[in-house]
This record gives sequence, C-alpha cells and structure tokens, in this order.
Amino acid sequence: MNGMAQSLALSSLPSIPGPKKSHTILIATVTVSAVVFIILVIAMSFYLIRKIKNADVIEEWEFDVGPHRFSYQELKKATRGFRDKELLGFGGSGKVYKGTLPNSDTQVAVKRISHESKQGVREFVSEIASIGRLRHRNLVQLLGWCSRQGDLLLVYDFMSNGSLDKYLFDEPKTILNWEQRFNISKGVASGLLYLHEGWEQTVIHRDIKAGNVLLDSELNGSLGDFGLAKLYERGTNPSTTRVVGTLGYLAPELTRTGKPTTSSDVFAFGALLLEVVCGRRPIEPKALPEELILVDWVWEKWRSGAVLDVVDPRLNGEFNQLEAVVVLKLGLMCSNNVPDMRPAMRQVVRYMEGEVSLPEVVAGPDAYDGKKGDGGSSGREFEDFVHSYPLSSNFEKVSICSSGGDYGDIDIEAGSTSPLSHSGRNEGR
Ligand SMILES: Nc1ncnc2c1ncn2[C@@H]1O[C@H](COP(=O)(O)OP(=O)(O)OP(=O)(O)O)[C@@H](O)[C@H]1O
Ligand SMILES: *[C@@H]1O[C@H](CO)[C@@H](O)[C@H](O)[C@H]1NC(C)=O
Ligand SMILES: *[C@@H]1O[C@H](CO)[C@@H](O)[C@H](O)[C@H]1NC(C)=O
Ligand SMILES: *[C@@H]1O[C@H](CO)[C@@H](O)[C@H](O)[C@H]1NC(C)=O
Ligand SMILES: [Mg+2]
Repeated sequence: MNGMAQSLALSSLPSIPGPKKSHTILIATVTVSAVVFIILVIAMSFYLIRKIKNADVIEEWEFDVGPHRFSYQELKKATRGFRDKELLGFGGSGKVYKGTLPNSDTQVAVKRISHESKQGVREFVSEIASIGRLRHRNLVQLLGWCSRQGDLLLVYDFMSNGSLDKYLFDEPKTILNWEQRFNISKGVASGLLYLHEGWEQTVIHRDIKAGNVLLDSELNGSLGDFGLAKLYERGTNPSTTRVVGTLGYLAPELTRTGKPTTSSDVFAFGALLLEVVCGRRPIEPKALPEELILVDWVWEKWRSGAVLDVVDPRLNGEFNQLEAVVVLKLGLMCSNNVPDMRPAMRQVVRYMEGEVSLPEVVAGPDAYDGKKGDGGSSGREFEDFVHSYPLSSNFEKVSICSSGGDYGDIDIEAGSTSPLSHSGRNEGR
C-alpha cells in the first residue's frame, strides 16, 4: 500500500507440514486407550450394578427372627455354587443340595424354594423362628435359613441315608428288614406326637409321606419339612387358600373344609404305616384294579382274615407277625374317613410301644361308629358324606352304584332314613 513490497524469500519459508509418523502412533494410542477405558468403565458399572442388586440386603423384619440367618455367600460356598453335582433331589417345592458349612465342617442339606410373592416368604419366615426352636430326635433339625429376592433357603441337618421312599418303591436297591421298618415307624410316630402335643403350640405337619421321612446313618427315621406346606397354601387372596398335600395322603375332609388338623396328619400317618408294611404307594396305578387303593385292599384282606397277604413280599416272610398285625390294624384305624374315629398320636405311640393293646374290632375306613360301610370304593365321596353324620341306628347298610362318577343310582337296601334328607344339613358340618 505504501510502496514496493519486499520480494518473497522462498528459501526462508518453513517447510510444508507433512504427515508425521509419530503423530499417527500417538493418535492411535490415545484412541485405543480411550476405548479400552470406556469399555472398562461400562464393565465395571455393570458389575457394580449386579453386585448391588444381588447384595444380601438384610431387611429390617429379618432381624426379628433370631440368630439362624445365614448369608447367601456362605450357603453358596457350602454347596459349591449350588452345583448340580451336589443335588440330593427335588420335590414339589424345590431343589435340595448337599453342603458343608465353611467354618464348622458340618454337613447340611440346603433346600432352595423359589417363591414369587415376597409377602408369602416374609410371613413364613416369621414362623421359622418357632419352627427352628422345635427339637426332637425324630425331627430333622432346621439349622437356619436365608432369604434372597423371593428365594428361600432352608438349612437342615444332613440325613445320610436319604428318604424312606427310596427303600420302599420302584425296585429299591436296599430292602429294609422288618425290625428296621418297625423302628422307623415308631420313630416317626414319636416325632409327630412331639409336633402335635410336645410343644407350647400345636404344630400340624400337613405333608406326611415316605418322601418326608429321612434316615440317618443308623437308619433312625426323622420327619422333615414340617410346617412347610403352609408356605404354599397362602395365596395373596385369603379366599383362594389351596389344599396342600400329596394325593393318597390327603384326608377326605380336607377337600371339603380345606382346614388341616391333627386328625388329617393322623390320616396321612396311617397311609405311611400301610406303605411301610406293604412296600408300595397308597395309590398304585400299575397294580391290579382291586389293589389300586392300598387302604381298600388292606381292609378287604383284613375282613377276609388274610391280612398278612399284604405284607411286602420282598421280606420273604421274615417278619414278626404280631407286630405286623398291630401296624396294619393301626394303619386301618388312622385311615378312617371320619376324623373323630381316628386315634390321636398319643394313643398311636402307646399302641406301637406295646403299652396298650389294640381294640379287638377295627372299623373299616368307611365305617361310622363301628358299623360296616359295605360300598365299594366307587362311591367313596358319597359314602364319606353319608358317614359324616350321626345316623339313626336303623340306618344299617348303604350300597351305592355310581355310574360314571355322578351318583346316578343310589340304592338304599336297609334303613328308613333317606340319605338325601341329610342334604339340608350339609352346610352345618
Ligand atoms: N435333610 C436332608 N438330608 C438328606 N437328604 C435330604 C434332606 N432333605 C431332603 N433330602 C433329599 O431331597 C429329596 C427331595 O426333597 P424334597 O423335600 O424337596 O421333596 P419331597 O419330600 O419329595 O417333596 P415335598 O416337596 O412335598 O417335601 C428327598 O427325596 C431326599 O432324598
Ligand atoms: C431298633 O430299635 C431298638 C431300640 O431302639 C434297637 O435296639 C435296635 O438295634 C434297632 N434295630 C435296628 C435294626 O435298627
Ligand atoms: C446308611 O448309612 C451308613 C453310613 O452313611 C451306611 O454305612 C449304611 O450302609 C447305610 N444304610 C443303608 C441301608 O443304605
Ligand atoms: C438312633 O436311635 C438310637 C435309639 O434311639 C440312638 O441311641 C442313636 O444315637 C440314634 N442314632 C443317631 C445317629 O442319631
Ligand atoms: Mg420333602
């Protein structure tokens, strides 16, 4: 603008910046480490979130329960992460794992129950406090528990010889001799008596069956899973209470009232006695039609005077006949369809210990007050209904021919009282 411009000195210009190798390496390194860092951060946050989510959050109510709470980590370690190799078995409620407690080397059985409703678990856990205090040599001791996100883990004494059903049904590997069977039955009876009467409150087992009788290293029998059925029968809605138990052990009145009692436990115990003697399930679909229902079959044999025919053939006739008759007779008495006709556990134990001798005459499972109910098993429910009422003395014999499940033809052979006249009283009981 104000005169001549200086000429350009090309030589003094700086060189044109070219792509520098060192820069590329630097950029690459920075990018890679940034990516790695971001991945690490994401992974760590995932890990932390999971850890927080899975943490053993001890809720306040859990402190009320007492000292038996195990931490989840402890039980996970004890069962080696709930490995399938440690699985002892599974039933209706969940899986059972074998474990060894880390700091005491005690062998335990850990039962893992999944439960959708946290409410049910919570209510149940408050009951664990009392169940955990029950102590008897014929009860499987509850050592502790742990609750985690709706899963309930119960820790029991480990019973090394497993459950009784494995020695009775489906071609067992080991067959128990008569003395062992009788000892086990006596043990279970005294365990159940303790539940019913030996404690400040009556505890109803609700699920007595061979699968819940566990055997220790000397083959002493103990009852397991007491009180557990309560967890399943609680729906969220109190009016939808379910009947819980196992088919063949369910007392008939349970399906009507839904209310388990000590008598319904006695009924299941009777089914257990019969299956221990006969070595078969209470209901055996594979058996001959007349042997389908164990109680009916035993009763038929009893009436025809050949009751020892029902004793497990695998014993090869090696058993104490007097004891076998006592147990079969008791099994029939406990299997009565009428709750009031069944003996109490205290009486059962006295009979089994031989302190008291059994009554000469045994009522059939369908009989009320010693009268014979002569109907077949087909009209069972109806008969049960008829026999639930104190009938007039001239109501001697009822036979029912049911066709296809509904009681189409009801044929009363003797007695002036029509069973239908009782229907009005149906609600009363
Ligand atoms: N304390 C224990 N010691 C050793 N084995 C056990 C113990 N508790 C259970 N088991 C084994 O685990 C199996 C499954 O038990 P689980 O109680 O889950 O089933 P179940 O008794 O057949 O049915 P339910 O759910 O009605 O009790 C049993 O058959 C038994 O062999
Ligand atoms: C049965 O019990 C009695 C008394 O408790 C005991 O002496 C006997 O050894 C037991 N028998 C078996 C086979 O367990
Ligand atoms: C019961 O367990 C003991 C020890 O665990 C074992 O020696 C015995 O053989 C078992 N009995 C049966 C009948 O399996
Ligand atoms: C089995 O029962 C007998 C008699 O009641 C008892 O002496 C024994 O200690 C019991 N065995 C075990 C392993 O608890
Ligand atoms: Mg069980």
